[in-house]
Amino acid sequence: MKLTRLIYASTLAEPMSKADVEQILAASRQRNNDLGITGYLCVSPSHALQCLEGGRHSVNKLYNHIVRDSRHADVTLLRYIEAWRRLFPVWDMGFTPDLSTAAPQSARWHDESGFNPYLVESDLVENVIEALCERSERVELRA
Ligand SMILES: Cc1cc2nc3c(=O)[nH]c(=O)nc-3n(C[C@H](O)[C@H](O)[C@H](O)COP(=O)(O)O)c2cc1C
Repeated sequence: MKLTRLIYASTLAEPMSKADVEQILAASRQRNNDLGITGYLCVSPSHALQCLEGGRHSVNKLYNHIVRDSRHADVTLLRYIEAWRRLFPVWDMGFTPDLSTAAPQSARWHDESGFNPYLVESDLVENVIEALCERSERVELRA
């Protein structure tokens, strides 16, 4: 299996609450598990930044599915590589109420409305998503 890592950014159609993100988690868990996909989804009220890791075919299939979701737009591929190990060995999701404080403070990645994930360079976006993962609230399904 060619392990593939895909990272994209998108703009949410409407601000999402943590409860909205829990709904995505409920829908994602089974499908990602069936496809052997792990990764990390970081959602803020304005943007999503997601890393998908797994077999090439599965990652592409899931990405094409997610792109069509009307809850977000301007889905932009930031990185697509063959990887030798998973950065995220389990499927995880985090909610970041304020990306501007949680994201690394590089002026290059900020514009007038704060942190803008579309500005992150392809070879640095893995570091950014790992930092966001450490600084986000974990989203868990309520029992
Ligand atoms: C930002 C974002 C990330 C998503 N990530 C995933 C994901 O990793 N896995 C998944 O199955 N669905 C994900 N979804 C939800 C899918 O787009 C879709 O709504 C869900 O899989 C249910 O699809 P279905 O109604 O065709 O079964 C995501 C949606 C959004 C808006």
